[in-house]
Amino acid sequence: MITSGKGGVGKTTLTATLGRIFASMGERTVALDADLGLNNLDVLVGADMRVVYDIVDVAEGKCRMNQALIRDMDEPGFYILPGAHSRDRSALNAQSMKEIVQRLARSFEIVLVDCPAGIDGGFRRAVEPCDEAVLVTTPHISSVRDAETVLRILRAGGIDRVYTVVNRVRGDLVVSGEMLSRSDVERLLGTEVYGMIPEDDGMNLLSNSFDYGMGAGVSACGALARGILSGTPEVFDLTKKYRGLFGGIKRRMKRRL
Ligand SMILES: Nc1ncnc2c1ncn2[C@@H]1O[C@H](COP(=O)(O)OP(=O)(O)OP(=O)(O)O)[C@@H](O)[C@H]1O
Ligand SMILES: [Mg+2]
Repeated sequence: MITSGKGGVGKTTLTATLGRIFASMGERTVALDADLGLNNLDVLVGADMRVVYDIVDVAEGKCRMNQALIRDMDEPGFYILPGAHSRDRSALNAQSMKEIVQRLARSFEIVLVDCPAGIDGGFRRAVEPCDEAVLVTTPHISSVRDAETVLRILRAGGIDRVYTVVNRVRGDLVVSGEMLSRSDVERLLGTEVYGMIPEDDGMNLLSNSFDYGMGAGVSACGALARGILSGTPEVFDLTKKYRGLFGGIKRRMKRRL
């Protein structure tokens, strides 16, 4: 499950990016939305126009799983199970969500469940069938504090493997001491950080500039994906280009921008 305390920290973006990266590494991956109200995921990967059946149709037995799954245009080993598009969603309770995740786990190596922020319905629906969690926070104290609460609940819910990721980090501000660093977040949360993802316009999947495989954001997600698969964190160094003499110049230029 991809989860967070605060909203808007990048869960759906990371779900889609990690899904494509895992698939490119040869792991057949599927992503689904545990947020029943909004269908961010299919919109974000540009699959919303191709939706015929959705997760509710699967839960109600109106279609086969294969009929609902949509293959990603960019990465053929990555699929989306579209979220509930309208109508009555009562068929999709914790039990049917669990069955759907378990069915997907039989034919995919990795099942990613994109959760809504916080610890309400969508979170609880996802905790039971999931084995591991990617906990996303931004490098702001309020977001880290909320992540701490979620971390506690995840552990209480039996999810021991939690990959904490700090998203939207500005390397220049970390070097100047104005933004929380990896070790700051590790100290606050009392857990290892598996990923530091820079603030990067190229991470915006809706924009035409999404540079898959090219930008710093996607490279950092690649390191995160390798760390998750190997169990040993491989954290992208986003402060490197802002250190030293030339780094100082780049930092000043970034500030002007
Ligand atoms: N590393 C990044 N650099 C720049 N922009 C980012 C980055 N990660 C996410 N964003 C942007 O942040 C916004 C929120 O991202 P996203 O929708 O993935 O968050 P979320 O946690 O899924 O939100 P919600 O809690 O509402 O589900 C989007 O506009 C996305 O493009
Ligand atoms: Mg989201």
